[in-house]
Amino acid sequence: MSNDTKYKVVIIGEGRVGKTSLLVRYCKGEYSDKQESTINAFCLQKQIQVNETDKVNIAIWDTAGQEKYKALAPMFYQEAVCAIIVYDITFKESFDKVKMWVTELTKTLDTSQIILCIAGNKCDLEKDRQIDKYFAESYAYQVGACHFMTSAKNNKGINELFQYIGSEILKR
Ligand code: GTP
Repeated sequence: MSNDTKYKVVIIGEGRVGKTSLLVRYCKGEYSDKQESTINAFCLQKQIQVNETDKVNIAIWDTAGQEKYKALAPMFYQEAVCAIIVYDITFKESFDKVKMWVTELTKTLDTSQIILCIAGNKCDLEKDRQIDKYFAESYAYQVGACHFMTSAKNNKGINELFQYIGSEILKR
């Protein structure tokens, strides 16, 4: 594996679940309660220090969650080594979208080749939770994905998510 290789990671999911916020928190260490909806997509790059000696360069693509942009998504996930499907733990319908995306990825990609992660975001709003954690984890297990609880607001679970991605990329 060349050290210069840049691996493509794509973030997908329902609108307003916090995809951009996760990316901006991870890459820039910033968060805004007034994060605006993404138009089309954008990309930030990051180097993951996986362990004392190994680093992995990733280009993370944040896709727009609104329905009107859905047709564009394949352009972003086609060559991705990893897909992070995000839902909002306080919004039940956003988990239905996770299932829709898993079905879509399974139809078009060899899912044994792609690192699949499911992130339950906004875990700072535990009191408003609509999706049972064990239900979500068991669904992820069934479809060969790894499940993470994240909060872009409180910076929880995000480093763990990307450390996992880095270590899985190293195994390739
Ligand atoms: P689209 O671009 O429309 O697809 O949205 P998105 O999924 O990128 O969501 P975005 O990051 O724009 O966040 C939507 C709203 O949720 C914003 O008001 C964020 O501030 C808020 N938000 C994002 N992450 C969190 C979180 O972890 N906790 C809380 N409480 N709010 C969050």
